[in-house]
Amino acid sequence: MCGIVGYVGPRVATPLLIEGLKRLEYRGYDSAGVAVMNGSGVETVKEAGKIARLEALLATTPVHGTTGIAHTRWATHGPPNQKNAHPHMSQDGNIAVVHNGIIENANSLKRMLEKRGYKFMSDTDTEVLAHLIQETFDGNLEDAVIEALNQVEGTYGIAVISAIDTHKIVAARKGSPLLVGLGENEYFIASDVSAILAHTRQVVYLDDGEMAVVDRNGYRIIDLNAEEVLHKKVARIDWDLAQIERGGFAHFMLKEIFEQPHTVENTMRGRLLLDEGTSKLGGLNLTDEELLAFDNIVITACGTSWHSALIGEGLIEELARVPVEVEYASEFRYRNPIVDEKTLCIVISQSGETADTLAAMREAKRRGARTLGIVNVVGSTIAREADGGIYIHAGPEIGVASTKAFTSQVIALLLFTLKLARLRDLSLLRGREIITGMIELPQQIQQILDRAEEIENLAEEFKRASNFLYLGRGYNFPAALEGALKLKEISYIHAEGYPAAEMKHGPIALIDEMMPVVFIAPHDSVFDKITSNVHEVKARKGRVIAITSRDEPALEGMLDYEFRIPETMDILMPVLASVPLQLLAYYVAVKLGSNVDQPRNLAKSVTVE
Ligand code: F6R
Repeated sequence: MCGIVGYVGPRVATPLLIEGLKRLEYRGYDSAGVAVMNGSGVETVKEAGKIARLEALLATTPVHGTTGIAHTRWATHGPPNQKNAHPHMSQDGNIAVVHNGIIENANSLKRMLEKRGYKFMSDTDTEVLAHLIQETFDGNLEDAVIEALNQVEGTYGIAVISAIDTHKIVAARKGSPLLVGLGENEYFIASDVSAILAHTRQVVYLDDGEMAVVDRNGYRIIDLNAEEVLHKKVARIDWDLAQIERGGFAHFMLKEIFEQPHTVENTMRGRLLLDEGTSKLGGLNLTDEELLAFDNIVITACGTSWHSALIGEGLIEELARVPVEVEYASEFRYRNPIVDEKTLCIVISQSGETADTLAAMREAKRRGARTLGIVNVVGSTIAREADGGIYIHAGPEIGVASTKAFTSQVIALLLFTLKLARLRDLSLLRGREIITGMIELPQQIQQILDRAEEIENLAEEFKRASNFLYLGRGYNFPAALEGALKLKEISYIHAEGYPAAEMKHGPIALIDEMMPVVFIAPHDSVFDKITSNVHEVKARKGRVIAITSRDEPALEGMLDYEFRIPETMDILMPVLASVPLQLLAYYVAVKLGSNVDQPRNLAKSVTVE
């Protein structure tokens, strides 16, 4: 999704802005640009395509100055070309704006501005803002921005500079993340902390309805409604630079897959109480009595996080015996859900910024529900707005296809389930057994990763397929959905996940000798059932790839390819089963030449509805 970087200070701005944009590349974008105050005015350079093209342009037309803003754009209004790339300039050339989000009343504002003689150079909603700020500008940039924003409906994270009120960046937020980075006599604006992590760890997060004014001498945060200065907490970022670099791996995705023994351990660290067979979760902000008082639980999320939610549903219902509904966040608030003050709403999001998920959480709150965030990015909007939560502590996830966040989300859900279930009826013995199984997971994941080459060979054999089916039962059904999503996201091969038995109600029609079917068939409580599904596929000449956990006479002669994973309990199996599926998607995509870390059309965090 779009990214914003801004710099004001003593250093030359352009290299810092470009470096920041590169750190944001992972979020997905299709054009990029910078605007810098060059001493006599604001100069803008922008280009369609990758940042390397912008850099090439800057090499021939350098822009010099110590205050600037920059942007990576992920097209919403108008095609991804140079004229639509940000920054956008006001008609008089004095104001430059970068913007994430959507101005919903852009058309009516445009008509009004055109009547007043403004000529539009782009198809974007953002350009409206640049002209509006010019229209209201009277020497003071922040006043003009406030006045312009008062006329705007929609969502925004913006950064603005002016050739007249110089050496200052004005930034404002409504619905699109933004933060101020505090350096020594220098300040940054960014939509994502990775953009500025190389320069500072001290940040102030803007909340909706807030504006930041930064210049070389300091920063002010202003409440846009009350127009008064706020004194906000400075947060310290714990992530280090190595975590946002590839560290010898060919892609961030591969690095993140290989990090999972550690990330899964990090999610559990300090939270397992083996003797008591339960977990300790400091951030829930709920007493045991409050936790026991909920009638039902709703889990809401999107994409991969929605898949972990499905696993969470199974865990909570099986172990804690509380009714759970899983809702796509994008559907949740448009269908009058049954949610009230007796509902606990668990919101799962790696980024903590997904617009649909955030909106669903706010809707649940509005209806009186208590909200818990299961989030990776510390300080993100969902993490800050939820009533309580569990950070998954997986470290920065840069690859667009989510991998380590998924396995850590499942662990976080399990920790929550253990806590709730032990307060209810789960026995001490069972609690201890589960914890013992959890403790073994990092080393079991490592055993799978040590055999990554086998999956790479498998990928070579199947990379030409144009469709895949992924089938699993019970806890492995969400793992099948996740395996299919990974493959389609980065290799662009069509793939579907199904509950294995559901196959005979339709998808079986697709099976022929060209169709690879990935079965997640470990030795678990539904193994016998899935065996019959394997037979059904084989009888129709489908090519069977099976994730198994032991020698199975019932599968003899049935499998075209088998990958063995360690045995664990049913409830932990999706954590292990998803690792070879991540590797399969990765290697197929690499072999097909896809841009694995930045697949086409995808954004790391979808901050528009
Ligand atoms: C899949 C993927 C997306 C995200 C989804 C939710 O690999 O990355 O499907 O899972 O956009 O994102 P978060 O978890 O950040 O809310």
